Amino acid sequence: MKVIGHRGAMGLAPENTLLSFRKALELGVDGVEFDVQNIDGNLLVFHDDTLERTTNGSGLLLDHSIDYLRSLDAGQGEKIPFLHDVIELIDIDTFINIELKGLRTASLVMELVKLLDKDRYKKENFIISSYLYSELFLVRQLDPDIQIGVIADELPDVALSFARDVNAYSFHPSLSLVSKELVEQVHEEGMLLYVHTVNDPDNIAKVKAMGVDGIFTDYPDRVRQG
Ligand code: G3P
Ligand code: MG
Repeated sequence: MKVIGHRGAMGLAPENTLLSFRKALELGVDGVEFDVQNIDGNLLVFHDDTLERTTNGSGLLLDHSIDYLRSLDAGQGEKIPFLHDVIELIDIDTFINIELKGLRTASLVMELVKLLDKDRYKKENFIISSYLYSELFLVRQLDPDIQIGVIADELPDVALSFARDVNAYSFHPSLSLVSKELVEQVHEEGMLLYVHTVNDPDNIAKVKAMGVDGIFTDYPDRVRQG
């Protein structure tokens, strides 16, 4: 059962910052998850469409220059990181779940993964996930082997059918969707099931008992303890 640090370890450090990824690694996670967006050809690790919740900036992410975005404080003096900086921080024994958050991210991310595949990382180090079917479809067109994760917060049958079509490696339902039956169905289809985002100790115990293959959590320490 894999412990996957959500946006690093966002319950313990500012989300999607290098500090948060260091914290997750310190806690011995099996994988880290984070969100990627394309700003004029630069891949930044950032979750929201707007800046207010997690930085000292304001307005829409996409309305700003890369220089302005990099000048912001994303919490405890951390900057919004570039994707390549986050990947370089993560050791090769920890898997990297890149969630494609905005449109037009798929081909840039796949270019980077292809480059890294020649270096110290292997394709097996990565899972590329999204709610955005068009982006995942493009990922599959660009690479027949890369591990794809399909995220679902509703309509599990529709999401599962897409997961089948795109030959997904893993299915990532929300806590509200997961059940023992869904875990069994996903396994019968030859995929792994990673549930998001589970922080409460009782829920952690419940999903473990259902036989999930992995848990996305803001508190990797709690999953390890349970
Ligand atoms: O990948 C699981 C989870 O991160 C998806 O939701 O909104 O936290 O990116 P969100
Ligand atoms: Mg995410």
